[in-house]
This record gives sequence, C-alpha cells and structure tokens, in this order.
Amino acid sequence: MVKRKALVTGGAGFIGSHLCNKLIKNNYDVIAYDDLSNGSGQKNLSKNVKFVKGSILNVKKVNELCKKVNVVFNLAVKPLLMSFYDPDEVVRVNDFGTYIVGKMCVKTKTKLIHISSSEAYGSAVSLPMKEVHPLLPSTIYASSKAASELYVRGFEKTNGLKMVIVRPFNSYGEFMREDMYGAVFPKFFERLSKGKVCTITGTGKQTRDFTHVDDTCQGIMLADQTKNAVGNTFNIAQGKETTINEIASLMTKNYNKSTGKNINLKFVYTKSRSGDVKRHLADISNAKKILGYKPKITINEGLNRIIKWNIKNK
Ligand SMILES: NC(=O)c1ccc[n+]([C@@H]2O[C@H](COP(=O)([O-])OP(=O)(O)OC[C@H]3O[C@@H](n4cnc5c(N)ncnc54)[C@H](O)[C@@H]3O)[C@@H](O)[C@H]2O)c1
Repeated sequence: MVKRKALVTGGAGFIGSHLCNKLIKNNYDVIAYDDLSNGSGQKNLSKNVKFVKGSILNVKKVNELCKKVNVVFNLAVKPLLMSFYDPDEVVRVNDFGTYIVGKMCVKTKTKLIHISSSEAYGSAVSLPMKEVHPLLPSTIYASSKAASELYVRGFEKTNGLKMVIVRPFNSYGEFMREDMYGAVFPKFFERLSKGKVCTITGTGKQTRDFTHVDDTCQGIMLADQTKNAVGNTFNIAQGKETTINEIASLMTKNYNKSTGKNINLKFVYTKSRSGDVKRHLADISNAKKILGYKPKITINEGLNRIIKWNIKNK
C-alpha cells in the first residue's frame, strides 16, 4: 500500500509531537517542521519522523515541503501567554503564517488540516458548544486563532482548497510543559511532588473540556482520513466539563494512590487572568457522526498516565 505523506507544522510542540508519532504508527511518512522557538524540541519524536527546522513564515521552504506531501497538518503557533507581551508576533505567525501555509497548499494542491482552538469561542454563551457557537475571542491569541480559520475558509471558497478545520479543546497529557497556558497538570504535579502550596487563578470554578492528547490526535488524524470531512469544522474534545478545583483534588487523590504518600495539597487563589474563559463544554456530535470519533481516555485515566510519566521523567 502507498504510504500517505504528511507535513506537521509545529511538529516539535506538545500536540504536534504526539500527532507525528500517531501518524507514524498509522503508516504515514511524516515530516515535522518547526522553528524550535518553543515546544519540547525533537526529543519526544519517534526516530521515524523526519525533522526539518524552519518557520512557517518562510514561503520558499513551506512551498518545497508542501510539494512533497499529500496533507499538511498546521499546528505551528505562538502561545496565548505571548499575546499579552508580544501580540504582533502572535498575529504574524498565527495569522500571516497560516495564510502562507494555506497559499502554498493551494499552489501545490495539497490538502490542509488546520488546527484552530476552542479559545476562538471565548466563554460559552450556550452549552454544550456546537461548531456554530459564535466566535467571541477574549484575547489576541484567541482572535488570531479565529482569524486563522477565516483565511483557510477564504482559500477554500476562492481557490478550492481541500481543507478541514479542527477545534481542539484543552488538551493534556505526557510531554506537557509548565510554561504552557493552562498547564495546570504539570504545575499541580510539581507542587504536589515538592509538597508546596499551589496557586489557582480565579475561583477555580472555571471549567474546561479537558481532553487527553491521544484522543485529540485521533480526532485530528480522522479529519484527514474521512472523505466527508472536507470543508467542515469539528470540535474535538472529551465532551465533559471539569472545574480546575476538581482537577486539583483528583490529581492529589491519584498522586497519593500512586506514591503511597498522604499529601494534602494546599491552594492559594489569585486574581483571575484577563481574558480567561469561564466555561467550556464541547458538543462533539459532528465529530462522532462524520469522523467516527470517540474519546477513549477518561480524566481519571489521563491523570494517572500523566502522574506516572512525570514520576518517571522529572
Ligand atoms: N494545547 C492545547 O490544549 C490546545 C488546545 C486547542 C488548540 N490547540 C492548538 O494546537 C496547536 C498546537 O498547540 P500546542 O499546545 O502543541 O503548542 P506548542 O507551543 O507546544 O507547539 C507549537 C509549536 O509551534 C512551533 N512554532 C512556533 N512558531 C513557529 C513558526 N513560525 N514556524 C514553525 N514552527 C513554529 C513551536 O516551536 C512549537 O514547537 C496550536 O495550533 C494550538 O492553537 C492547542
């Protein structure tokens, strides 16, 4: 069977590296393209992934790479926290970068799976959030993700680009870094393992639809493998709402169980971050129906995986 060839931009990042490894396991040839400005570098990538260093702003390189593959998964991103101190760079990469990737996909007639974000919705105005929920971004990062989708959509309508937009909700799992936005999992682990007080921004009652990264990547891969998916936008999530306070207490319980310790994690609540989303819960019925997507990893199982991985790797 001829192998499908994929280019993963942001392939050295948290989701990108999991996606590259999953695609390899599913018989793809994979090129990870990343400027290594962030992310974990190449260390988490399977040795079968070909790594190319470079920026999605480099038109020539993106063009050359697009010519070599059947599909581009566009994950390269400047992070949410950067949008508070360097919004110009966030817009340049997340929007103009996506525009370049889209344009090169049009030029080389390559399919594009563009990874947007639940952040584009802002706080929920109705629950569960369907794909038609209005986009009401509350940070420049969220705006940049919303706008990036519109360029991809523009290329579809004007130039016939074959594309799918995926909106993952908060993903967590192995390889997660403490510097990431919403990195409650590695942060709680670090405080737990040192027996230190843990900081929660806001009341801790804010919710997210936490999704294990393996389920997120399954949804992203299915977006490429499903013919009927072309032209559509999909929420990819677990379909369950969990508060930050619940994560903290579940993590403490599971940590104590795994280590035999009896730590009672103490919390300090600080002012909520500007633009912080209050509630997120995805409606994943489109992904279930069209992609055959089914999240497999419960929050409890996912937390145990992270705890084990952190104990082994930290
Ligand atoms: N992590 C989440 O919970 C989450 C949720 C929803 C959507 N997403 C989306 O998933 C995608 C991946 O996010 P992540 O969490 O893995 O982020 P990440 O920061 O771990 O990875 C992003 C990668 O992009 C690279 N990068 C930055 N600028 C680049 C450029 N100009 N050219 C090439 N590479 C560049 C970085 O070096 C990094 O390796 C993003 O598009 C993000 O918006 C993530």
